[in-house]
Amino acid sequence: MNVLRFTDLCAQGKASGQRVFIRADLNVPQDDAGRITEDTRIRASVPCIQLALDAGAAVMVTSHLGRPTEGQFKPEDSLAPVAARLGELLGREVPLVADWVDGVQVAPGQVVLLENCRLNKGEKKNDETLARKLAALTDIYVNDAFGTAHRAEATTYGIAQFAKIACAGPLLAAEIDAITKALAHPQRPLVAIVAGSKVSTKLTILKSLADKVDQLIVGGGIANTFMLAAGLKIGKSLAEPDLLDEAKAVIEVMRARGAAVPIPVDVVTAKTFAADAPATVKDASDVADDDLILDIGPKTADLLAAQLREAGTVVWNGPVGVFEFDAFASGTKTIARAIADSKAFSIAGGGDTLAAIAKYGIEDKIGYISTGGGAFLEVLEGKTLPAFEILAKRAE
Ligand code: 3PG
Repeated sequence: MNVLRFTDLCAQGKASGQRVFIRADLNVPQDDAGRITEDTRIRASVPCIQLALDAGAAVMVTSHLGRPTEGQFKPEDSLAPVAARLGELLGREVPLVADWVDGVQVAPGQVVLLENCRLNKGEKKNDETLARKLAALTDIYVNDAFGTAHRAEATTYGIAQFAKIACAGPLLAAEIDAITKALAHPQRPLVAIVAGSKVSTKLTILKSLADKVDQLIVGGGIANTFMLAAGLKIGKSLAEPDLLDEAKAVIEVMRARGAAVPIPVDVVTAKTFAADAPATVKDASDVADDDLILDIGPKTADLLAAQLREAGTVVWNGPVGVFEFDAFASGTKTIARAIADSKAFSIAGGGDTLAAIAKYGIEDKIGYISTGGGAFLEVLEGKTLPAFEILAKRAE
């Protein structure tokens, strides 16, 4: 995708002395006391801000935090904890500015954080009057918020329409590059792992990937529905029998292309959903009426691991079993290790997937770990995200 890149503008000296407005995604989880519990997105936003400062720009950064009611400030909606953490990471104080839509005072070499942009009336509906005001604040608009790239809001879309210059920050650009490498021009075989509790939440993804990938590995409740579609019994495991026809259609589309949805040959079952429930490995054809399938079995895991090791590209979204319980974690662990050992370019995203990657300590063995939740899923659905679309239009 052809977009203007902030890194290039800086290298050409075009950001020096300019007012730069960076839309970051600093929407991080907090505990009840407002303490940040996970700061990946703040750390991921630092390179863009540092780049702007090093280029001699006057830097404004904003983000949403949660889903506040527009025009009604509550202390828990404030980016104050984020400003403090950002300050630690940048090694300088980051002042937090409220009520900023009509003007921001910031000098070249300085950075300010603009309070939660979703407090501004019109943000979510991408109001044109608001977007034009935001655009008037800046010489260069930088979108570095991949996590919010699937939203067409005033700070992610409208401002990009009206700002003098609109470009992608390094994080957004890295996500675009990784997604293009994995899905638009993949090294084959292209293997996707789509796992999760329900087919219904990932049906569009499954359908979209069925046209592209060479192997579509399904896991969790999704795999159970596919086992049913393949004529296997799944006991009282989580599944969606009303989506059997959809699952069969995905299998058929894949088969017609000479591609496949591998169906588990063995599984790990329990009688109850509990961390201490005794685990039994059995053939996929031996599942009893009162069994719950909580993981793929070792033969299945080895077969899938072999495919992953041979892959040219791997796209990973979702653990294949209840990996939070040690007795049902082997499948996900084997898959994770196989991806880590594979020479394939791998891209992973989604909260549970990131938790599995962290649990097995393979962060540096994954080609690209996406910062997007919903945005990553929409990319897998084959959608063009609004933030990408407008930046590409502005680059024409
Ligand atoms: C996320 O956490 O996925 C992003 O920050 C987007 O948040 P939203 O779903 O509230 O738009």
